[in-house]
Parts: sequence; structure tokens; C-alpha cells
Amino acid sequence: MCGIVGYIGSKRAYDILIQGLHRLEYRGYDSSGVAMISESGELNIYKSKGKVEALEHFAQNKDLSGAIGIAHTRWATHGEPNDINAHPHYSQSGRIALVHNGTIENYTVLKEALTQHGYSFVSQTDTEVAVQLIEYIMLTNNCSLFDAVAEATKRIVGAYAIAVVDRQNPNQIIAARQSSPLVIGVGEGEYFLASDATPIIEYTNKVVYLNDGEIAVINRGEELKVYDAKSAECSKIEITELQMSIEQLEKGGYPHFMLKEIFEQPRTLADCISGRISADGKSVVLSGVIEHKERFLNAGRIIIVACGTSWHAALIGKHLFEDYCRIPVVVEYASEFRYSNPVVGKNDILIALSQSGETADTLAALELAKAKGAFVFGICNVIGSSIPRATDSGCYIHVGPEIGVASTKAFTGQVTVLAMMSLLIGQMKGTVDQQTLATVASDIRRVPALIDDILGMHEQIEDLAKIFTYAHNFLYLGRGYNYPSALEGALKLKEISYIHAEGYPAAEMKHGTIALIDNDMPSVVIAIKDNVYDKTVNNIQQVKARGGKVVAIVTEGDTIVRDMADYVIEVPEISECLTPLLTAIPLQLLAYYIAVNKGRNVDQPRNLAKSVTVE
Ligand code: AGP
Ligand code: GLU
Repeated sequence: MCGIVGYIGSKRAYDILIQGLHRLEYRGYDSSGVAMISESGELNIYKSKGKVEALEHFAQNKDLSGAIGIAHTRWATHGEPNDINAHPHYSQSGRIALVHNGTIENYTVLKEALTQHGYSFVSQTDTEVAVQLIEYIMLTNNCSLFDAVAEATKRIVGAYAIAVVDRQNPNQIIAARQSSPLVIGVGEGEYFLASDATPIIEYTNKVVYLNDGEIAVINRGEELKVYDAKSAECSKIEITELQMSIEQLEKGGYPHFMLKEIFEQPRTLADCISGRISADGKSVVLSGVIEHKERFLNAGRIIIVACGTSWHAALIGKHLFEDYCRIPVVVEYASEFRYSNPVVGKNDILIALSQSGETADTLAALELAKAKGAFVFGICNVIGSSIPRATDSGCYIHVGPEIGVASTKAFTGQVTVLAMMSLLIGQMKGTVDQQTLATVASDIRRVPALIDDILGMHEQIEDLAKIFTYAHNFLYLGRGYNYPSALEGALKLKEISYIHAEGYPAAEMKHGTIALIDNDMPSVVIAIKDNVYDKTVNNIQQVKARGGKVVAIVTEGDTIVRDMADYVIEVPEISECLTPLLTAIPLQLLAYYIAVNKGRNVDQPRNLAKSVTVE
């Protein structure tokens, strides 16, 4: 995601735009820019890689006049973070400027068509295609900016919130949205535009939320008009009076970024999956893999290096690749791998798994493997970070900025990408039959909605957390695909509540750890319906026999565990390999609510950093 700001009124737009970008920097911060129509009628565009302060430095001593402007702080999806790919983007004639939040799925098709009509492109972004398309329509049809935007939105496939200005009409901003948020602030003789209300609230608490498929015509000194993009019919405008504080707004009304990011997962996983499973559900499209097909076909081994939560996702990746690709997988802590004098060669594929793309140990591990001749593939969230720049190929998880130090949506994004990768490589190698691929691919598409259902149980989990807030230790047990889920659940609890917790393979618990079990040592047991369900049920009975309390995560409709566990949380049935995506949600919420009950700093726990860029 990114941050969009716009202003039209009587004040100097630049001041409002810059302040607004600072308020939205949490939405994306790899580059930013502003476009103002100056008092002399010039369209001045200033943009810079890096945070907003870099833009302010760049814009010093420039012409910052003008009472109309748009601005953008970027979270790159297409094209490295740099000055050229920064928004606003402008049309070939230099007449129109545009900012965009979202992804244009058919941008390559549109770009090719525009190239045929003599358009050339300076950036690698999908966004530039939108502004060129709007100009092309405007000039070839000799129509208004509104009509051009309306027609362009009919041709664009994907998610967008856009704001557009035309140098020849300094009294108008056009805005449109489809799947990405856009809010209009209604002031006294002035209008504000933003991705959320945080840049607006200090000027006015009267806002209009644009709906999907709507276009807003914001004319200076005139009444706001909103139209349906398809029918061009006028929409009814509903003004909302906001009562939230700026800090609450940054978190989307949630008390913490972590809770916001937990609840974002249906959308972020839809973004992660978008465009990567074919419409007929029979194939997976990951260009970073397809372009290196031979490498994956001939791989003798896959080594996955990672740290923390990413290491837990890597363990799930091992199951996926071995199940569907029949390639042996080794999962290594990056910090251990880099100092272990590893045996690595040209038949190895090393996958570096990292949300931030900046973890020092993971970066060092991939450099070591690359030096030894391995093919290095990165799976990261932050576009253009160090790890993607150091790898031979890769795949982004596209879950947007993860602000909470405790990783949640990045974990489910990583597992989702690993699942899609395993299906694609399995199909290439012929180790996955078409039926299995179709079934699992279809289930991957169901995940966002199923997670939404699970999130609906948050009050049940909040109540459960109250019972365990004062526990001193926790044991998390799981098997197979959900042994890593147990590890991840334990880490979530540890890092935000400071309660000691240990994840363990359920069967292994009998080899010592069971000595810890008593009434003060609750166990969370993941007992979904899989091929070892009966064994896990036995483990629950063993815990109960020693007086331990059991919180069980079970498959919907389970009647066996219900009669033995103390507390039961149900998750919907899905392909076993995808169950970690569902079991993660109650474990994230349980950790969150316990930590809140203990008054912890959930978003920035003690001793931790969001990205460990040191050894
Ligand atoms: C997860 O909740 C922690 N914040 C931490 O373990 C994190 O997963 C680890 O530092 C790896 O970070 P990365 O994914 O950015 O490489
Ligand atoms: N897809 C656009 C780009 O990569 C916009 C990304 C965003 O929403 O920040 O520039």
C-alpha cells in the first residue's frame, strides 16, 4: 500500500501535502513526491527516493507555489524504489500528473498498446501506464479529464486509488478508486484527499469515503460531485463526521498496528495471491520461478535460510516442497548456516526468506551460498531491500508494510507464496497431478475468506486470553505442517507478552518436556484433522492425565477433542498443507490479547527491533 494526499483550496498546497505525507509514511516509505500547479500555471513535480524528509530537502529553493496539488509516499510493487519510479507520474506531454495506490494487473498489455500509439515510458511502474492511458484517451477523444479517467478505469484491471491533475485546469482534481482506499475531506472552501483520514483530520472532521467504482470531481469553490465510473450517474454523497484521534486513524481505528495487521490478513493475502493463480485455477504464475525453470527442474536440494518467524515459515516450506516437488529441503537458521562451513554447490537452490529483506544473518547466508555457486532466490516483503537486490531471482509477498514488530501478516504471506511456489515447481516437474494442483490452488483462493471467518471469533479468543494472562509458562504442541505453527505460536506469545513459551513436536513432548506439565502449565495443542490426528489426541490425553490444561485448535465439527480439552477453538477444513494459514490466526490473537492484558507495548516489545540488521 502507499499514501496519497491531495489539496485544492486557497492555502499553499505544498505545506498541506508534505504534512500529509508525514502522517501517511507508515503506509509506505521507499520514495515520495508532490505535484503542484503553480501560480504561473506550471505543473511542478518534485520527487525523491527515500523518506519524506529527503523530498523536503530536494524541494528546497524550488517553486512550491500553487493552491492545488497531489502527493504520494510509495510502497513499491512494480519497479525499484528510486527517483524515476517515485510518484507522481506525468503524461508524455507533461500536461497531466497522477498518483496511484494499488497494482494494475494488466499494465503490460496496456503498455504495449500505448507503445504502439507512440507512447514511451520512463519508469518501470504500472502506474505510469495509467497516466499515459488517460492522456491518450483525452487527446484521441478530445474529451474532458473526467471522461478520460472514467474510460481509463473501464480498461484498467486491478486495484487503484488515483488522484489526477491537469495543468490546463488548475481548479480541479479528479479522483477514482477500486479496491484501494480514498477519503475526501470537506473543508470551508477547500477540499482534502488522502488514503486515510490522518492527513485530513487536523483541517476538518467532515469526510466522504469514496466507494469502489466511483469517481470524484473536486472543483475549487464548487460542491463536491461523485459519479459511478461505469454509468456516469451521480452518486449520493454521505458526509461522515470523524471522532477518532490521528493516532487511532493511523492504525485504522485499531489500538495497535499488530491487531490491525492481524485483521488485514484477508486483504493482504488476497493481494499476495492476486494474479498468481490462473483464472481456471489450473496453474500458478510466479515469474521469478518460471524464468529459471531449468534451475528448479535440476535442483538437487533446496536450502531455506531464515530467522525467527521466517524460519518457522521455512519449516512449512520444507513440507510443501518435499510433498509437492519431491526435492529434499534443508532448513537452516541463517546465523548457524553462515558459520557452519556449509557444503553448498551449483546444484543447490538457496531460498532466503525475510520480511524486511534486511536481516543481517540471512543476507550473509545468501552471499555465502552465492559465492559457493548456489542459485539464490529471495522471498521478501519490502521491495528493493538488500536481499532482493542480492539474489538471482525472487518473489515478493505483497502484504504491505508490516509495522508491528511481531510478524503476523508477513508470516501468512510467506507461507502462501511457498505454497504457490511448491505447486508451480511440482507442476513443472510432473510431481503434482492436475487434480491435486487444482484442489490446493482452489483452497489457496479460499484462505482470505476463511481467515475472515476465524477473525470473527476474536471475542472468544479475547475471553480465553483472560484465563491465561497470568500463566508463567506455556507449551505449544503440533505435528507435521503444524509443528512450525506451534513454534510460531510460542514465539508470538514470548515476544509480546514476555511469558516463557515453548513450541514442541507433539510426540516429542513425552521425551522429557512432559515433566513440566501441571495445573500451572497450560498447553496449546494444534489437533486438526490430519494423518496423525489420532496420535495428537493421545498427546492431549497424556497432558490431561498430568493435570495440565489444554487449549485445542481443532477442525470445525470435531467432537472427539471437544470432550477432552478444556478450551476448543475451531478452524475450517482445508487442504492439510494450508492449515498453518488458519491455525496461525487464533494463535496470533491469543498472544495479542494476553499481551494487552499484561499491559505490554505490543507494537514495540522490549529488547526487539522490526529488522535485525546486526549480528
Ligand atoms: C517475528 O515476530 C520477529 N519479529 C522476528 O523473529 C523476525 O521474524 C526475524 O527477525 C526475521 O525477520 P525478517 O523476516 O525480516 O528477516
Ligand atoms: N503499483 C504502484 C507502484 O509500484 C503503486 C504502489 C503503491 O501502492 O505504493 O509504484
